[in-house]
Amino acid sequence: MTASAPIQQLRAHAARLSATPIDALCASDPARASALALRVGPLYANFARQRYDAAALAALFALADQADLPGRLRALFDGEIVNRTEDRPALHTALRGKLSSGQRAADASALAADARLRMRQLVDRIQAGGVTDVVSVGIGGSDLGPRLVVDALATPGAPVRVHFLSNVDPAAARSVTQALDPSRTAVLLVSKSFGTQETLLNGRILREWLGDDSRLYAITANPARAEAAFAIGPDRILPMWDWVGGRYSMWSAVGFPIALAIGMDAFEALLEGAAEMDAHVLQAPPRENLAAWHALTAVWNRNALGLSTHAVLPYAERLRLLPNYLQQLVMESLGKSVRVDGSAIDLSTVPVWWGGVGTDTQHSFFQALHQGTQPVSMDMIGVVHRDAAHPDNATALLANFLAQSEALANGQDSSDPHRAYPGNRPGTVMLLDRLDARSLGALVAMYEHSVYLQGVLWGINPFDQFGVELGKQVADRLMPALRGEGEADDPVTRELVAQLRR
Ligand code: F6P
Repeated sequence: MTASAPIQQLRAHAARLSATPIDALCASDPARASALALRVGPLYANFARQRYDAAALAALFALADQADLPGRLRALFDGEIVNRTEDRPALHTALRGKLSSGQRAADASALAADARLRMRQLVDRIQAGGVTDVVSVGIGGSDLGPRLVVDALATPGAPVRVHFLSNVDPAAARSVTQALDPSRTAVLLVSKSFGTQETLLNGRILREWLGDDSRLYAITANPARAEAAFAIGPDRILPMWDWVGGRYSMWSAVGFPIALAIGMDAFEALLEGAAEMDAHVLQAPPRENLAAWHALTAVWNRNALGLSTHAVLPYAERLRLLPNYLQQLVMESLGKSVRVDGSAIDLSTVPVWWGGVGTDTQHSFFQALHQGTQPVSMDMIGVVHRDAAHPDNATALLANFLAQSEALANGQDSSDPHRAYPGNRPGTVMLLDRLDARSLGALVAMYEHSVYLQGVLWGINPFDQFGVELGKQVADRLMPALRGEGEADDPVTRELVAQLRR
């Protein structure tokens, strides 16, 4: 989307449709509700409550053709250097399938298969060693994916309970360790670089607490540092590679906490679900391609309608961490304002992604979704499940899910302005057949591919994250000042440090 003419066209369609709200679009075309929907395995997605019609969609898919989405997907899967600013491929798809005949992808798949064999052995070893609890220490991409999956899928009877520690605030380490017995706990240090401040500092606390290095493991692309800093030998290190981005890494040994919590077979089912989505996304033409629909819808909402925030609303307690996970996946990938070649983008890129679980959020921020001045686009995700133990609750959950999607789209008139609902809030409604490893793998992979395609459409590299570096550098420089060993350079920071040292 480097040319602005296609965007002008999208905006013209948005202007043409500005007096045609979602309910009118749906009422005028009885086939729309089923025509604007796709199913891929366990995942169904319905785009009928988006604010486009056939002509606007034609313009969007013309954009997909112009950007050569199929060709760019092939480049991703084949291991081409899609991460151009760091001169690397991004081969997360090779961690979960063999959809490419390219040598790089084949080599990557072989390494991933070896790592999975070692993971299986280590799961057995840890479980056989009388370990009841595991603490996974990591942050960002080395934390959020495994945390999401473990929270969604771990069951109370599992042989090992997995806990997560990310925040450098010592209160976090205290809260994780206080209920655990160090003699029956293993600690995983998960860090691609093994240079991340939070993980190293928390790792030190946990190593000391553990008091026994034989139950200390590392998952890293930098084994030399793990060995030098924590004396972790090769038999307790699982690999990572520079061709997997941190936020795309839960399919690698970074997913070891998942394998411990739900078993290696279920971890492999997660990968299989993602691989099924990969096959669909790689092979389906854009018009039938779920990730392409999702990405084009994101571009429509951002660049044609000008919406600046996007809410993720899972109606499933076990998906409560999905908004957090997607915040990193989407905003660390797409929060950029220059194209791959360094030129400025003349369009808005990623909106703010946020959200929370239904039905709780209906009683917090939904008021603003319904009647606030800022329309918000949404992904609403429900799970088709029959909870035999509590059928009334399960039915109420789904009733609320359907009701909110309908009410936000259709609104309701009233002579009393306080009781009027403008509606016309665009939302994609997704349904997972069930919440298991396979379907969760498919859902997450769909988001990964949508992010990649949004990057293609905006002309940006979704695989680097230079924006997070500056703050880390400044924090490193300020450590001595906070210890009283010097002054901060910046006058405001100096004043704040003085307050803190008082
Ligand atoms: O937040 C920045 C970041 O570099 C993420 O991209 C990454 O997932 C996270 O830090 C953790 O990095 P590492 O795995 O190297 O500790």
